Amino acid sequence: MNRFIAWVDARFPLTRMLREHLTEYYAPKNFNFFYFFGALALLVLVVQILTGIWLTMHYKPDAELAFGSVEHIMRNVNYGWLIRYMHATGASAFFIIVYLHMFRGLMYGSHRPPRELVWIVGMLIFLVLMGEAFMGYVLPWGQMSYWGAQVIINLFTAIPWIGPDLAEWIRGGFAISDPTLNRLFAFHVVALPIVLILLVGVHLVALHEVGSNNPDGIEIKETKDAQGRPADGIPFHPYYTVKDLFGAVVFLFVAAVIIFYFPTVNGLFLEPENFEPADPLNTPEHIKPVWYFGTFYAILRAVPHKLTGVVLMGLSILLLFLLPWLDRSPARSWRYRPIYKQMLLIFAVSFLVLMYLGSQPPTATYTLLAQVFTVIYFAFFIALPFVSRWERPRPVPDRITGKG
Ligand code: HEM
Repeated sequence: MNRFIAWVDARFPLTRMLREHLTEYYAPKNFNFFYFFGALALLVLVVQILTGIWLTMHYKPDAELAFGSVEHIMRNVNYGWLIRYMHATGASAFFIIVYLHMFRGLMYGSHRPPRELVWIVGMLIFLVLMGEAFMGYVLPWGQMSYWGAQVIINLFTAIPWIGPDLAEWIRGGFAISDPTLNRLFAFHVVALPIVLILLVGVHLVALHEVGSNNPDGIEIKETKDAQGRPADGIPFHPYYTVKDLFGAVVFLFVAAVIIFYFPTVNGLFLEPENFEPADPLNTPEHIKPVWYFGTFYAILRAVPHKLTGVVLMGLSILLLFLLPWLDRSPARSWRYRPIYKQMLLIFAVSFLVLMYLGSQPPTATYTLLAQVFTVIYFAFFIALPFVSRWERPRPVPDRITGKG
């Protein structure tokens, strides 16, 4: 075995890579609950790719056959129901995990220098993930697939001059139809997964180049021990591989309970309307996106003017890219920044309220609420550069405090 590894090492940096990224990658010793989600996102990515490959073996990307092929998977294919429910639950789980992962970044200032690129690549992953989820949702060709695609692709018509032509080009016709389904399928199963995998690779290489942040937001590389290793660091393997393995088992247990007992989660993960075949002549009374798009959809609907709504929705995502530069505090973690902590919590509440409103019918009251919370959402980004400069952080310790 050793001779084989030496043979490989002479031709490929296997041992060096394992050392650099696992056994000699020193991670801060105070990783807490919120540090489970990066590894869990990786796990879900793998599960989605594997279940996706098996679904593709039986799915038919044809407007006449797609709905029926999904029913066939559910009823006739051995364990087809399990694979489909794993994939559908995985999609929602992915967003729960990624939202918590991003929130952790904002709590502890992981997006701040020198990790801006880790954050930017993360945001690119988030964009691609949203595209991937949207396209996957269209594939079963149910009522909500069809009308959801109709709403989203129609947003492009709001663009001045080129809008209508652009929407037609994206659809591959005057209406959502077979060519639309075919191209969304190609993107969902081939193009975007490749981009996602590449981006996740870049995300991790960028992170390991600068090293992990931690709940105290302190740079552990600044205090070295006698051997020149970070005094507050521990090798990723075995310490965090074991921790992450525990997280994976708990996660898989919760996911199994959902998959086996509540696969639709009361219409939240799989909407009842999507168990009806797409009907271009019958518009559902209330078209709504899956829960994880709710926040952005609520911002879109809060504005009566279509183009302004589209621009605000785009901005609500784009501004997240800029956070490393909008935040100017000398401290990273919210532990030492009480005012930032309140701001971030209010921002998170506005994010969740908008998420709820995005799934509700646009009544006058709900629209007014969406407008109020849209203002609160944007106020966070406007206030951050000023408040982060003006707030005096509490003294930040030189070494990790030992609190998780
Ligand atoms: C498929 C999606 C993603 C995967 C597989 C992934 C994976 C990971 C992993 C394994 C880590 C190291 C472990 C950890 O810190 O939890 C990490 C760290 C990080 N990720 Fe992601 N990530 C994803 C999406 C995102 C997104 C959407 C963002 C933000 C926009 C993001 C921002 C970060 C940041 C800032 C860190 C450094 C955290 C720190 O050191 O405190 N990631 N990611």
